[in-house]
Amino acid sequence: MSADSTKKTLMVALGVCLVCSVLVSSATVALSDRQEENKKLDKLTNILAAGDLLKGSTDVQKTYEENIQAKLIDVKTGEILNEKQYTKDLNPETFDTKKMTSDPKFTELIPSEIDIAGIKKLPKHMVIYEVMKDKVVDKFIFPIYGKGLWSTLWGFVALDTDLRTIKGFTFYEHGETPGLGGEVDNPKWKAQWKGKKAFDENGDIAISVIKGTVDQSNPKAEYQIDGLSGSTLTSRGVSNLVRFWLGENGYGPFMAKVKEGQHE
Ligand SMILES: Cc1cc2nc3c(=O)[nH]c(=O)nc-3n(C[C@H](O)[C@H](O)[C@H](O)COP(=O)(O)O)c2cc1C
Repeated sequence: MSADSTKKTLMVALGVCLVCSVLVSSATVALSDRQEENKKLDKLTNILAAGDLLKGSTDVQKTYEENIQAKLIDVKTGEILNEKQYTKDLNPETFDTKKMTSDPKFTELIPSEIDIAGIKKLPKHMVIYEVMKDKVVDKFIFPIYGKGLWSTLWGFVALDTDLRTIKGFTFYEHGETPGLGGEVDNPKWKAQWKGKKAFDENGDIAISVIKGTVDQSNPKAEYQIDGLSGSTLTSRGVSNLVRFWLGENGYGPFMAKVKEGQHE
């Protein structure tokens, strides 16, 4: 067989393909644990960011452990589960949000007329985070998620203990277009949420992402966030998912119990 025969060329190409595929598969398997760890760390980093605890070169794990208490709640009743009720899946420290929000065993279907976040299934349980200061709760951090234009956006909204004032807002995962819907990650846009009121004086959900720029002289400005330009659909999705999770079908029952002093 001559060195430049077709058969030899094909054999060399096949050999190179085989070696490369073995290398890529081994790398994927070898790095999967580290990828999982990094994902967990990224989630913790975003919890700290929402709780305004991310300062300079913060040791994420240590800061989380020193400042945050994770609580597992029954979404419908707003009850906090106690340790005796924990199982392999239902445990605030190991709670796998993606699994628990898609598994039919741990979710129920939402009637489409109330599913403004476009999530289709309501998880029976969620983990919420309490930011502690001098042994008392200083803020609540609530996980939020829902449909944008192209993807499900996963993030957190932090509320003051008045359960009305927004203290932080961030997404840790989404697939919206960079420069358009992806501007949900723009620090300037996220900073706008701080200090806004999620509810009006009557306790009705009022926060929304509007189309265009907020007119600061409008009395409703304290409930409004600028729309992302050229990205009305992502903006609307974000508005709807926040309103869903802070509403009566999301964390409403839990917040009602906090206000009644039942979670002290
Ligand atoms: C390639 C491409 C990517 C887009 N990505 C987004 C996006 O991530 N979020 C979004 O709301 N709109 C996106 N749009 C625009 C939407 O299709 C739609 O035109 C827009 O949301 C309307 O917003 P406007 O009324 O502010 O112009 C994208 C459009 C194109 C062509």
